[in-house]
Amino acid sequence: MTLIDGKAVSAQIKQEIAAEVEQIVAAGGKRPHLAAILVGHDGGSETYVANKVKACEACGFKSSLIRYEADVTEAELLEKVEELNQDADVDGFIVQLPLPKHISEQKVIEAIDYRKDVDGFHPINVGRLAIGLPCYVSATPNGIIELLRRYNIETSGKKCVVLGRSNIVGKPMATLMMQKATPGDATVTVCHSHSHDLKKECQEADIIIAAIGKPNFVTADMVKEGAVVIDVGTTRVPDATKKSGFRLNGDVKFDEVAPKCSFITPVPGGVGPMTIVSLMKNTLLAGKKAIYL
Ligand code: GUN
Repeated sequence: MTLIDGKAVSAQIKQEIAAEVEQIVAAGGKRPHLAAILVGHDGGSETYVANKVKACEACGFKSSLIRYEADVTEAELLEKVEELNQDADVDGFIVQLPLPKHISEQKVIEAIDYRKDVDGFHPINVGRLAIGLPCYVSATPNGIIELLRRYNIETSGKKCVVLGRSNIVGKPMATLMMQKATPGDATVTVCHSHSHDLKKECQEADIIIAAIGKPNFVTADMVKEGAVVIDVGTTRVPDATKKSGFRLNGDVKFDEVAPKCSFITPVPGGVGPMTIVSLMKNTLLAGKKAIYL
């Protein structure tokens, strides 16, 4: 069994990005600039955004954090989105989700200029991904593809089960795994809360990508000997032994599943660090105007 070290891979990629940024700047180019909008004080969102800002520093990017209280109006937020769309110094930006209930996330996502949508959530980027055109790809699935690539994991012709059908992870993950590409070229099944015999689907899978947000959902009896298991779960569960009072729990019952796997990602330290580094890669692409002018 090989433990996939997302922390080490992400550190390596951040170094690669930082080296490229210094080359760009030395040649007289512009330092990439990522802006992030954070609404309210959700603990998870605060942590994610703080980590994104920290990653920008490590990559040599400029970053801007724009904060609003949870009672900000949809109109105010849309106005800021438009301002960032027009700001030539900002190469890419994100609006951290979830947003308060009185704000339409879809409306906000669609207001972002797709050429600055480094989250890859805008319908133009999602549509371009679906038909295999260059675009910004959602960070978590792109990070998983990068792990599969760097660990030389064979995906061509393999049976891949994606658990979960979210717009951010499950759907783009399935799209990438079925893409005519390496990694890719897999036979993909997407399972969700209404799937019949999800256990049997998993038992037949060469690769399981678990993104349903249910702690310890994938158990040893669901996993084929030699399977590759990628755990996207990051549910916060109370843990009195931790300073924060909680720990992150994956979707996979790691202790019993790991011995059966050829490769497996831990939680934390697997997919999580790759998500942030994928956003950094998209920001570098945005800075270079590599996808859209
Ligand atoms: N909330 C959870 N994941 C993400 C993400 O990748 N981007 C944004 N903007 N919000 C999120």
